[in-house]
Amino acid sequence: MTTRETWGTRAGFILAAAGSAIGLGNIWRFPGEAYEFGGGAFLLPYLFAILTAGIPLLLLEYTIGRKYQSGPPSAFRALYRPAEGIGWWQNGIAFFLATFYAVIIAWALCYVFFAPGMAWGDDAGAFFGGEFLQAGEPLDFFEYRPIMMAALAAVWALVLLIMAGGVRKGVELANRICIPLLVVLFGAIVVRALTLDGAADGLDAFFTPQWDKIGDYEIWLAAYGQVFFSLSIGMGTMIAYSSYLRKRSELSTTAVTVGFANSSFELLAGIGVFAVLGFMSSESGAPIDELVGTGGGVAFVTFPTILSQMPGGAFIGVLFFATLVVAGISSLISMVIVPFSSFEDRFGWTRKKSVLVLGVPMAAFSLLIYPTSNGSSMVDAVDFAVSGYGLVLGGLATIVLAFATGKIKSLAAEANRTSMLKLGTVWYACLALTSVVLVYTLFRSVQGQIADLSDPAVANELIYINWGVGGAMILFGVVMTVVLYRRPLPERVEEEASAPV
Ligand code: TRP
Repeated sequence: MTTRETWGTRAGFILAAAGSAIGLGNIWRFPGEAYEFGGGAFLLPYLFAILTAGIPLLLLEYTIGRKYQSGPPSAFRALYRPAEGIGWWQNGIAFFLATFYAVIIAWALCYVFFAPGMAWGDDAGAFFGGEFLQAGEPLDFFEYRPIMMAALAAVWALVLLIMAGGVRKGVELANRICIPLLVVLFGAIVVRALTLDGAADGLDAFFTPQWDKIGDYEIWLAAYGQVFFSLSIGMGTMIAYSSYLRKRSELSTTAVTVGFANSSFELLAGIGVFAVLGFMSSESGAPIDELVGTGGGVAFVTFPTILSQMPGGAFIGVLFFATLVVAGISSLISMVIVPFSSFEDRFGWTRKKSVLVLGVPMAAFSLLIYPTSNGSSMVDAVDFAVSGYGLVLGGLATIVLAFATGKIKSLAAEANRTSMLKLGTVWYACLALTSVVLVYTLFRSVQGQIADLSDPAVANELIYINWGVGGAMILFGVVMTVVLYRRPLPERVEEEASAPV
């Protein structure tokens, strides 16, 4: 029987969980989403989603992980044997998410080096799409961009090195370095941003509620999507992380702390980004809404443009892109941990074996597909399969399973054994409400995709890639369930799961 590693300290787990949550989603996704979906009015559905869906699901994943002390497939199997496949399917999601997320970190890493000399010149948009990505046709694969490849290889080398260190000397240590670094880097950026001329106008634009939008289902969907992505739920990441907790660890205040830290970071990012947009608008006279894009646009086009005009822009640029890299790395390790913990717990693999048999091929896949001229189209297509469907379905499956197996009460009891805030009716009600919202979300987004299929203005081949990726992930889950159905879990999991504490 092998003994399983645990986090060194309570703070170690909190830092790692916060490191997972705080990522590219906070810095480049949140400000754009919030602005697009109602500005200040977005904050209401967003807060609602955090409190009724985000934190309750975070608690559910923590509880499952700590109770069964194993990665998602074995944990789900312990809940209900045929459900093992949910965990494997989440491995599929993690595979695709990690392999493209690393690419965005690699772009940011390149920009750390571009910033001192403002390599983008006067036209950051043309630089990003033209010179840097050399964006070509969506389906022209394998036209490589050497700088990007080098950066991506460096990202993967660092991540695999961290993973090779295990829980305490790898993941925990990395987060102990990353989180304080993030606070300092990001703090400096926000302070600088707020002292720019025009900052107040930017904040006005950001916080002014467009109440007429609050009734749109789209802003609610966007809020739930943002919360899932941002808190890293629905993919088994938190099951994997909390599987390394000691059985006596407290859960409820941890979830609240992580949720609070993540939202603070997100709001700060919104404030920083919009203060800078306000400055830009006061310099150029262009209205703020013309300056905002979602996704990569803000980070790699709008920001560089502004940096060129800002006193001290080169320095802030280095800080900004370094922040993206640091925040991204601590999230990327929490994606890679999903397959690592899954295979280690199911098949008794050592960490070394996971690095070689899982980590290296993941890095290779990432390097093969993305640092190319169609890389950014692929990122978009795969992102939609992952954040548009995968996470939401994964979260839904976790909730349904907990209720359908009748284990929800025993899970609550397990959490309450050590929790300061007791889980009970309110928790059940939040989870039930969340599942209703998620079913509706899925329904609407499938509808949207079907409509897109018949719209020639949308690149159809990308939709097929999107469905293909989604199908591949589910197929993997099904195949693994069938193949492993009769194979018992390694003794450790069964024993610890039923052992008195
Ligand atoms: N939360 C991270 C971000 O905001 C991304 C992330 C890390 C994630 N692990 C995850 C998203 C697991 C979903 C599932 O960038």
